[in-house]
Amino acid sequence: LASTEVNIGELEEGQEITVIYRERPHFVRRRTAAEVESARDVDIASLPDRDARNFNLGDGVPATDENRSAMTAEIADGVEIEDALRAALLVTSANCTHLGCVPTEGAGDYGAWFCPCHGSHYDTSGRIRRGPAPENLSVPVMTFTSASVLRLG
Ligand code: FES
Repeated sequence: LASTEVNIGELEEGQEITVIYRERPHFVRRRTAAEVESARDVDIASLPDRDARNFNLGDGVPATDENRSAMTAEIADGVEIEDALRAALLVTSANCTHLGCVPTEGAGDYGAWFCPCHGSHYDTSGRIRRGPAPENLSVPVMTFTSASVLRLG
């Protein structure tokens, strides 16, 4: 199956790029410390979707921010990568889980992603918080293949 290599070495704090993986857009965001903090400061019981939706972990894993961030990515042998960077990186599908529109960055009630098609609000962990979307934005399988490259798939 096709994989996509993302150069994370050039991403600055608060910067987001969109890459194509398996013919679909994906967000790659290096979050700020404040964004990570706000994502961690959420009661999982209050979430519409409590599943991490992370292909690195499988089903039934709670949707904590740690379980959605690149903390869950594999690390290739011999690669060293800072925990803070792994925690800051968030990679998700860029297709709203309602009907597939691409949400807008930096918008909505949670300052993260807002889907303008029918009004779904996602938080800084890509979790659905309000609106018709039923699930969190999914997290693809990821591996750090070097200190500056994250492979999807
Ligand atoms: Fe995103 Fe409907 S497609 S809210």
